[in-house]
Amino acid sequence: MASNVGVIGGGTMGIGIAYVFAVAGATTTVVEPDDARMATLRAEVEQAAAGGVARGKLAAETAAALRERIGHVTSAEQLPGGLDLVVETVPESRELKRSVLVAAESRGPAVLASNTSALSIDDLASALAAPERFLGLHFFNPVWSIPVVEVVRGAATSDETLEAALSAVAGIGKQTAVVRDVPGFATSRLDVVAALEAIRMVESGVGEPAEIDRAIQLAYRHPVGPLRLSDIVGLDVRLHIARNLERALGPQFTPPQLLIEKVEAGELGRKTGRGFYDWDRSA
Ligand SMILES: NC(=O)c1ccc[n+]([C@@H]2O[C@H](COP(=O)([O-])OP(=O)(O)OC[C@H]3O[C@@H](n4cnc5c(N)ncnc54)[C@H](O)[C@@H]3O)[C@@H](O)[C@H]2O)c1
Repeated sequence: MASNVGVIGGGTMGIGIAYVFAVAGATTTVVEPDDARMATLRAEVEQAAAGGVARGKLAAETAAALRERIGHVTSAEQLPGGLDLVVETVPESRELKRSVLVAAESRGPAVLASNTSALSIDDLASALAAPERFLGLHFFNPVWSIPVVEVVRGAATSDETLEAALSAVAGIGKQTAVVRDVPGFATSRLDVVAALEAIRMVESGVGEPAEIDRAIQLAYRHPVGPLRLSDIVGLDVRLHIARNLERALGPQFTPPQLLIEKVEAGELGRKTGRGFYDWDRSA
């Protein structure tokens, strides 16, 4: 269980990560340089808490306590010293992540983690003075409702760090899946394979996106089909990950031409209103 936590980056994922730790009772400090983003974080935390209370899943006193439990600083150097856990969740840039991790390490946290989707944990660790205290904690979106965290053990991660991280994740009521540091970890790798194959099926006229998604959803109990999920993730993000995995793992990750064309046409999925679905009408 982590009682004092830092979250670096208050965006899509940082909001959820700060929320789950604060709900579990941790004093949580968010590092967010952009005041507008921090205001959004506070508003979304309040909204999520109100929803939790309305559904009977969160005590009204816990919801009321969240405002005090979540603190704010504007740079990683300002994090409190000696935190139990710091989770970095800034945008997916190697240089940015390495620089904020080095800054956070100077504050002496017991465990330092990255929420990277696909960057190498060992490569990020090579920037650090104490790589044995570092690992990947890959949360899923939306953090408050997805019950698992993928724990990525780097080559240098110590047993003690792994145990502390597993305990911190258990403390927020989530399950863990521990994997080695390989490109795409386990989840991104499997998810992208399914998505690329579904896109190839659309390309070769096997069926309409909604038909393929419905078949997989109902036959295999997936909550969302691979094409709809691709639209939600963003087709540009899918393409970026596919190209990285193609380089690292081979041609099973070669992106289909249809995906490339959609990205070039600016059809990136939900965020632009059109991808495999028309989100302005169907969402
Ligand atoms: N979005 C997802 O579904 C998802 C799922 C799993 C993992 N991830 C990973 O999580 C990470 C964050 O993704 P996101 O979607 O939350 O991004 P985002 O762009 O929504 O949020 C990133 C936040 O980091 C802040 N930031 C930028 N520079 C900073 C700095 N120097 N110090 C502190 N904060 C800084 C930004 O202002 C922004 O609020 C990425 O590595 C991404 O790959 C994302």
